[in-house]
Amino acid sequence: MKKMMAANWKMHKTRAEARESAATLIASLSSMPDDREVVIFAPYTALADCANEFAGKEGFSLGGQNVYSEDHGAFTGEISPAMLRDAGCTHVLTGHSERRALFHESSEAIGKKTAFALKQGLKVTLCIGETLEEREGGHLESVLREQLIKGVADVDDAVSDSDLAIAYEPVWAIGTGKVAGPVEILETHALVRKLLVERFPEQGRSIRILYGGSVKPDNASEIITLDNVDGVLVGGASLDAASMRQIVLA
Ligand code: 13P
Repeated sequence: MKKMMAANWKMHKTRAEARESAATLIASLSSMPDDREVVIFAPYTALADCANEFAGKEGFSLGGQNVYSEDHGAFTGEISPAMLRDAGCTHVLTGHSERRALFHESSEAIGKKTAFALKQGLKVTLCIGETLEEREGGHLESVLREQLIKGVADVDDAVSDSDLAIAYEPVWAIGTGKVAGPVEILETHALVRKLLVERFPEQGRSIRILYGGSVKPDNASEIITLDNVDGVLVGGASLDAASMRQIVLA
């Protein structure tokens, strides 16, 4: 399976800025290696514009940064999988730590979104990760187990390994410039792999596990070659097309 080189633009970029970034990135990656694919998780307002830029471009996909677990209704401010698809998305993120911490999303609610988005035909990248206090308190495994197992609780046992991915993003490494070291990434990705195989004995070995947290052009090549690292989810460094290009080619 290809390595998934994903950009989470978070709450950045106007439509014009998003079009410009998408076009620059596409032009700079005209010869993308066969083993790489790019997914951009753009803000809602820029999705349709990015979809236009990506149309017909092999290896580039678009995703939303969040989704709700209902098809339609009185859910002010929310967005459905069908609406994301209508705007050109094939992917969506669930459970980002900013959703968990700032918007109080529970693992149960994230599980509902994950299962519903998959049922509605989106490919889901479920984000999990521990805080520094949880890691230092010896709770790494229990935290990741809770987030992962509840996050996929209602997912079909036969889910395809190309439809579900897990992004391991240690909260203490997000936007801090503090990247997890190779040993921490190796150990934690092995743990996530173990949990995935427990839950999905068939596909658990091939479901992709992405690393996220202060990935930059100068550390991406070391990270991407580690065992059980099947991609990266990049925040800050993805906002600049030139730096995202370097990461994609790392
Ligand atoms: P940074 O790359 O800015 O640390 O963000 C990581 C992240 O949260 C991606 O989802």
